[in-house]
Amino acid sequence: MSNSIEDRSIIVTGSGRGIGRSIAEGLAQAGARVVIADINAETAEATAAEIREAGGRAIGLAVDVTDRASTQALIARTVSSYGRLDAIFNNAGIAQVKQFNDITEDDWHRVMDVNAMGVLIGIQEASKQFIAQGGGGKIINTASIAGKQGYEPLAHYSASKFAVVALTQAAARAFGKHRINVNAICPGVVATDMWKLIDKGFKDEGLTSRDNEAFEGFSAGILLGRPSHPEDLAGVSIFLASAGSDYMTGQSLVVDGGMVLV
Ligand SMILES: NC(=O)c1ccc[n+]([C@@H]2O[C@H](COP(=O)([O-])OP(=O)(O)OC[C@H]3O[C@@H](n4cnc5c(N)ncnc54)[C@H](O)[C@@H]3O)[C@@H](O)[C@H]2O)c1
Repeated sequence: MSNSIEDRSIIVTGSGRGIGRSIAEGLAQAGARVVIADINAETAEATAAEIREAGGRAIGLAVDVTDRASTQALIARTVSSYGRLDAIFNNAGIAQVKQFNDITEDDWHRVMDVNAMGVLIGIQEASKQFIAQGGGGKIINTASIAGKQGYEPLAHYSASKFAVVALTQAAARAFGKHRINVNAICPGVVATDMWKLIDKGFKDEGLTSRDNEAFEGFSAGILLGRPSHPEDLAGVSIFLASAGSDYMTGQSLVVDGGMVLV
């Protein structure tokens, strides 16, 4: 058994920036052939170009994870470029800060569509490809500590991340017989553009009074003494895409420096 991911063909959605970008960079450094898939075609191509310049193998493709035809086209392009699909990271997500009673139906649908339905479609379309290839394959979904605990000004976001954990468990049960591993990663407080938006949201909602206050407040007390860098998620991502995790499925791993102990 080898933990190598050399030559594996791997899609990472939402990888034009942030956590997805660091996951893709880590996978490429470990020898995988990666697809940088993002709704923002420019950041997808720029990230892929930087990986190639660093000696890795990457292509950038546009995708909207809420659109089944777009996801199908992404997988078809991956297979035509790399010959097969070995793993998909359903990582694309959005956040919104709103006090509980102010969340509208539109807010709910927007967040649930990207974070939950996008993961559903990603699992469905990747599993079809894996089964067509004869079975085997890795599905790794990005949930959150908000998939383990509900956070009040992020209620619909938390609900969407609990949904990711549920989809991970249900898909593990559905596809175990095809040797498809389905697991999730639950990051904590990660310094990305998403957290800048969350921090601004807390301030706009009158929940904090200065920049970075929410970020610092959430980060206080992290057992390992600091908030997360996106690169902190790369190692576990390589493991979950490798044969080293072949006997593991249906799990949602908390990688938060020690915030939520479950
Ligand atoms: N930053 C954190 O602290 C944190 C913590 C826990 C979980 N997460 C989760 O990690 C994932 C990545 O978060 P991040 O902090 O890197 O966010 P980010 O906003 O920095 O990056 C998200 C990326 O997803 C892309 N995207 C958005 N909607 C899309 C769609 N419909 N189709 C395809 N791509 C789309 C964006 O263009 C962007 O490049 C998300 O699922 C997020 O919920 C983040």
